Amino acid sequence: MTTTAVVTGAGRGIGLAIAHRLRAAGHLVVVTDVDREAAERAAAEVGGGAVGLEQDVRDLASADAVAAVAAEHGRVAVWVNNAGVLFAGDAWAHPDDELTTILDVNVRGVISGSAAAVRTMGSDGGRILNIASISALTPVPGLALYAATKAAVLSYTTSLEGDLRHAGLPITVKALCPDVVGTHMVTSRENDPHAAMLFSGPKPLDTDTVAAAAMSLLDSRQTFRVVPRWRGVVARSADVAPSVTGGALALMRRLGERRQSRG
Ligand SMILES: NC(=O)c1ccc[n+]([C@@H]2O[C@H](COP(=O)([O-])OP(=O)(O)OC[C@H]3O[C@@H](n4cnc5c(N)ncnc54)[C@H](O)[C@@H]3O)[C@@H](O)[C@H]2O)c1
Repeated sequence: MTTTAVVTGAGRGIGLAIAHRLRAAGHLVVVTDVDREAAERAAAEVGGGAVGLEQDVRDLASADAVAAVAAEHGRVAVWVNNAGVLFAGDAWAHPDDELTTILDVNVRGVISGSAAAVRTMGSDGGRILNIASISALTPVPGLALYAATKAAVLSYTTSLEGDLRHAGLPITVKALCPDVVGTHMVTSRENDPHAAMLFSGPKPLDTDTVAAAAMSLLDSRQTFRVVPRWRGVVARSADVAPSVTGGALALMRRLGERRQSRG
């Protein structure tokens, strides 16, 4: 029997790489994106009967509509809430439209997508994956607003996991927290002084590495995972050694700014 996997915001970047992996795992993939052409192009690239749909995750009703289309093709077994946007800058200076957009896409979009996934999977069960970020776990200079949305995604995911277990539904929900990935979201900000931290670490991850980690997390018993794992250990060491972490962050900001001025 055919099973379907939905990936939001999969017209490019991390979502597209995850769509390829889900196709390779035997699912018929439903690729959605606010950019209809990108969604259709991605579906053609993924193949195996993949379906490309226009979806703006800010439209809360859109998640149920996507679920209905996915269910026409087979049991919805996997749902990945990947669509996201990033605005960098001083935490106190974001215009209202940035605040509204980032909360609508990154938080409300993930919550409505997860809810639609639970409704369509029901007692047949399934697996939900929410794409958070390492910024959910550690301060990131210039990304306070973005980090807050990703912390919300992580928090919602861990609570939802408990609620699903309590309800006796055979549905798992997990959050992936990647470090910097070399996608349009990041490369389009190369000259943004507010996003210095984005370029301060070692080489950015590639999308396939992140997609492989996503598949491995889906199969694991963990509720969330940082990619690469060592960054998660460093991020969480803030609890035990806050002064060391504070110094490291200042150093990373300086390195990032230096790289940007060279770039
Ligand atoms: N790139 C990174 O460094 C990084 C790190 C950690 C987490 N993430 C997260 O990974 C996810 C994917 O990001 P990416 O790096 O591939 O970025 P990207 O910008 O390359 O891709 C994001 C996709 O989401 C789509 N999108 C944007 N708004 C949408 C909306 N309202 N409805 C539906 N689709 C929408 C875009 O059209 C685009 O195709 C995001 O949630 C992002 O926050 C990215």
